[in-house]
Amino acid sequence: MILSEKFWENKYKTNKIGWDLGEVSAPLKTYFDQLINKDLKILIPGGGNSYEAEYLFNNGFKNVYVVDLSKTALENIKKRVPNFPNSQLILGNFFDLNDTFDLAIEQTFFCAIDPNLREKYAYKMKDLLKSKGKLVGLLFDAKLNTDHPPFGGNRKEYTAYFESYFKMDVFTKCYNSFHNRQGMELFIKLTKN
Ligand SMILES: C[S@@+](CC[C@H](N)C(=O)[O-])C[C@H]1O[C@@H](n2cnc3c(N)ncnc32)[C@H](O)[C@@H]1O
Repeated sequence: MILSEKFWENKYKTNKIGWDLGEVSAPLKTYFDQLINKDLKILIPGGGNSYEAEYLFNNGFKNVYVVDLSKTALENIKKRVPNFPNSQLILGNFFDLNDTFDLAIEQTFFCAIDPNLREKYAYKMKDLLKSKGKLVGLLFDAKLNTDHPPFGGNRKEYTAYFESYFKMDVFTKCYNSFHNRQGMELFIKLTKN
């Protein structure tokens, strides 16, 4: 299946964005609220309309980057947060990024890529994070679809991708998921080895 730039851009253009929460997700907000260091360089890959980027930026985290294949999604962020630096809204492919970060945030991006790329995602994430950098966020713990996103998976499968590069600090059922995702998500906090 080709999950191209056109595929995703079309979703935003036609407003077929069922994954979009319209607000910062509670589990991520809870995590953000206990971060002390506002200088952290944070990546939100496949961030889409990224209410998380907006929340972080408006709460003093100025070093936040969103990479996404959809121009419309990035423009939407800019409309809501005019001061968000253009250079931190990267129109492009996560797998082509060439930079390093302290923290990467996952939410419905991993489930949106072709499952054949999951191993590559873990490897790329390791490369993009600085030493002791963290990958934090949510992964679906549910079967979901096999021929189009969102693609499902489970803890056992995911562990196999990440365990060689990361220490699994947290990898547990999420207790405060959005109402229609309750019981279907894992909250993860992985630290690069
Ligand atoms: C299901 S949406 C999730 C958006 C956002 N994370 C959220 O929670 O609302 C998946 C997003 O990943 C983006 N995307 C898919 N493949 C990508 C890639 N290889 N590189 C960058 N962005 C990608 C899509 O354009 C889309 O915005």
